Amino acid sequence: MNDMSTIDTSVLSGGISIQGLRKRYHQHDVFKSIDLNVERGTFVCLLGPSGCGKTTLLRCLAGLIKPDAGLIGICGQAVYDGATAHFVEPENRALGMVFQNYALWPHMTVRKNIKYPLDRHRIPSRESDARIQKIARLVGIEALLDRYPAQISGGQQQRVALARALVNEPKMLLLDEPLSNLDASLRAQLRRDLRQVHERLGMTTVLVTHDQEEAAALADLVVVMLDGGIVQKGRYEEIMTEPANKTVARFVGYDNLLPVSILRQEDGVTQMRTDGGEVIWVNRNPYGGDSAKQLLALRGDSLSISETRIENALSGHIRRRTSLGHTVEVELDCSGNSLIARVPATQVSSIETQNVWVGFDTSSPLVPIN
Ligand SMILES: Nc1ncnc2c1ncn2[C@@H]1O[C@H](COP(=O)(O)OP(=O)(O)OP(=O)(O)O)[C@@H](O)[C@H]1O
Ligand SMILES: [Mg+2]
Repeated sequence: MNDMSTIDTSVLSGGISIQGLRKRYHQHDVFKSIDLNVERGTFVCLLGPSGCGKTTLLRCLAGLIKPDAGLIGICGQAVYDGATAHFVEPENRALGMVFQNYALWPHMTVRKNIKYPLDRHRIPSRESDARIQKIARLVGIEALLDRYPAQISGGQQQRVALARALVNEPKMLLLDEPLSNLDASLRAQLRRDLRQVHERLGMTTVLVTHDQEEAAALADLVVVMLDGGIVQKGRYEEIMTEPANKTVARFVGYDNLLPVSILRQEDGVTQMRTDGGEVIWVNRNPYGGDSAKQLLALRGDSLSISETRIENALSGHIRRRTSLGHTVEVELDCSGNSLIARVPATQVSSIETQNVWVGFDTSSPLVPIN
């Protein structure tokens, strides 16, 4: 039975609530104190570099790893409480899970694979047949039910794993990079399917991914982890427009972080000076933090290159051009700072001089230097 006496029940009303969660291995903290509240029905993407603790956090939610301290509540139920050693076994957490290698049983047909969790819960066979049909239709594998995993493609195996995770009508779906083994077009297809399944069934979903495109397409809430801590959470657009620090900025695709000195900010405009002495501005106010030195975060594909002077631009020196087909990657030196621009091939094909002006998007964010 749940011991609710030590738990602040107000935090359990949502989909997931995590408080002060700690996990260590051999004196090394994977995370020290994670706090996260997620409303029921939210599609969450856990984003972060390799080794930052995403899988560990997901496995703590699933109950496959026992944390060292803290509290986890799932859909109103305390499933872990470090203070009282309360721990709910994975099979009693009403979860569906798909892991990276999706581990189907090779000696069972697709139907048997999907049926497995139903048998574990002793669902009568008439009901289980109906549920298998329904879920197979939902993920588009009705025609494959009598084949073995080795007789279907990677993308189809992925759908079977998803069907198996969903067949017990979980309150929460946990997905650890389930699309990473697939080619680009199949990923895009399954990404759409995942979103659709989520919209139809409405369960809280946590997806671990390295892929910003996946996060952008799927997430209601993006949680960015770095070195075992949550550094930022919000809608994908919020994280894109206001990255909390330079690592997050790089992670969401700002290839260039240019040091600048802030001169002034008023009426929604921040004026700054580059290392090259150019005075430039962005339509941003306030900028991140209050330090006079900041980093202007610029996406390579938001830059433009011109031979003639343009307003509000950086002076640069072309070091190298690399053709990427329709676009060219141009490596520039801007007063000792290296800058990468990705511009249409037509924009630079006629440029012969090495000294150019680099235009940028005036909605680019500023991030703290440390
Ligand atoms: N069983 C274990 N024993 C010791 N250390 C572990 C164990 N499992 C994970 N770790 C360590 O904990 C840290 C977080 O690992 P985790 O698998 O959660 O990372 P991740 O964010 O999922 O990375 P990836 O994106 O590469 O999958 C890593 O430094 C890892 O080496
Ligand atoms: Mg992982």
